[in-house]
Parts: sequence; C-alpha cells; structure tokens
Amino acid sequence: MDLKQLNAFIAIADARSFSAAATTTGLSQPTLSRLLKQLEADMGVVLVDRYHRPLHLTAAGDFFYDKISAVLTEIETVTSMTQRLSAPSTVLNIGFVPSVLYGLLPEIIATLKQHSSNQNADIEVNLKDISSYQQIEALKTGEIDVGFGRFAHQDPWIQQILLRHERYVVALPKAHPLAHVREQRLIDLANNRLILYHQTHLPAQRAPNSLVQIPTAQTENVSLANSVTEPLLYLFAQYGISPFMTTKVSDLQVALGLVAAGEGITLVPASLQTVRTEQISYQRLVHENVTSPVYLHTLKDFVHPKVPDLLDATYQVYEQRGITYRRQKFV
Ligand code: BEZ
Repeated sequence: MDLKQLNAFIAIADARSFSAAATTTGLSQPTLSRLLKQLEADMGVVLVDRYHRPLHLTAAGDFFYDKISAVLTEIETVTSMTQRLSAPSTVLNIGFVPSVLYGLLPEIIATLKQHSSNQNADIEVNLKDISSYQQIEALKTGEIDVGFGRFAHQDPWIQQILLRHERYVVALPKAHPLAHVREQRLIDLANNRLILYHQTHLPAQRAPNSLVQIPTAQTENVSLANSVTEPLLYLFAQYGISPFMTTKVSDLQVALGLVAAGEGITLVPASLQTVRTEQISYQRLVHENVTSPVYLHTLKDFVHPKVPDLLDATYQVYEQRGITYRRQKFV
C-alpha cells in the first residue's frame, strides 16, 4: 500500500466516477483503475462497487474512506509543519473573527509593528477574515500562523490561550424607549426582537459550556441553558429567559445594521461600541458573567517566531487600556 494508491482511492470516492477523478487528479482513467486494483489486492478487500453509476463504496470502503482521509490529512499537516519549521516565513498570517477586528486587533497590530521597527526588524502581517472553526484547519494547513476567535477548541494539534473574558453590552436603536437606561437587565430586554448573528460560526454540534461562562448563582437554569447552542440565546437561557422573537442574520455587521434600522436589539462584546454610534445606543448589562471569551490559537508543535511578540503586544494594549486579563505562556 502506498500514498499514490490511497490518494487515488480518495479521489475516486470523492468524485464517484473514474472520469471525474481523472480530471481532479490529472491522472488517466487506466492509471486510477490500476492504482485502485493494486490497493484492493494488497488489502484483500473490495473497496469500490464498480457496478453502480455513480460508483458506490462498499461498507468496508466507507469505513476505510473515513479513517484513511483523517490519516492523509495528518500526513499533510505534518509535512507542512516540517517545511515551516525548517524555513519559518517572515510574514505573519493572522486569522480573525469580525468581532475582534472591530475591537482591539488594529491597535494590537500597530503595537507589534512599532516594537518590531524599534528593534530594526520590520514585520509583514497578513490578515484573514476566517471563522473560529475554519481557523483550526487553516492553522494545520499553514494558511494562518495564529488565529483570534471566541470559541474554545479541543484538538490534539492546537494550543489555545484564553486572553480574557469580555463583557457583552446591549445594542439598541437610538429611538428605543430603553436606549438611555444605563444598566440593563436581560429580563427587561426579553420582549424585543433579538438579532442573532453567530450562524456561520457555529459547528453542527457543540457543548455550550465552552462558549460562555456559567454564573454559579443561576445553577438551576444550567440544564435548560445546556440544551441551547446559539450563544446569545444561551446567555438569556442562563437566567431562565427565552426571548420573545428572534431574527437570524449572517454576521455581526448585518445584525448591527438591523439594530440601526430599528428592527430589533442585539448583544455584542463591549469593544464593538465604536460601530455605528449615530444610530445605535450601547448600554452596559448589570450581569457581570454575561461575557464572551477571546482566544488565541496556534499550533502546539510549531509556534511562528513572531507569535510570542504578538501575545506581548496584546498584553501591552490590555495594560494601557486597564483591561483585566490573566497572563499565560505557550506550552
Ligand atoms: C481582545 O479584544 O481582547 C483582542 C482582540 C484582538 C486580538 C487579541 C485580543
């Protein structure tokens, strides 16, 4: 069994046809057919049922496809990490979710660049707008060197540093009757249309506990909250509240656009308070535990040489702004 045979099997299984697999791989159909036959002969197992069109995998083929695709992804990750180890790029590729871009990210990058130029070692930074979940794959492929997001990840290749818990504020249209109330309670907001914006960032299944902290005073509501996976609904569910009406939109900017247009209210991390301030009133929430975490993710076995400087720049910005955080180190 060799890599060529395995890649041929994956291409045929993905395309469900020899001719389509020939187009994606650039190999001829007879070559693909020969590689698949050799693999099946080596294993003594029929993986592809050739009598159906489109082609079907046998039950053994289905099992093998699932397991071997994971192995091939690992081989690609290890190869790319080894290449990066031997020649680290001078460019730092940073993945981010929109909520950190509208917040402190520009200031952190300016601080990093300032430090580098003080040390006569100018740094080139590339920014990529990429969801928390896609950041994990992008770290493994080398598309990014570091990712900032708001979801925790458990992955054997990835290390995460919890930077801080940021409080949520409520965003209301300027004409809303509560727009000038300084400290707001979630219960008083429950009669409004709540605009939800996390759809593209949610995985199919996840444990909600890792999205936000659970306040100990509300433990009786925890089992209710645990069945809610949408992050904003989860915040309300912690207090036993289910908002009256909701609207789902694709991202944070659209949600704030709808608030500005008077279509509803939403909750956003406090650093977003600079966006659209002419049409939106941002007010604090009384609940101290209604927070959104900020994580830095990087590979476990290969940390780009500039990432520790990026972490230092982040802590420096926190200190300048009086933001509470707990300092952490890379493993
Ligand atoms: C923050 O808001 O804490 C943050 C934003 C971007 C990068 C790092 C931290």
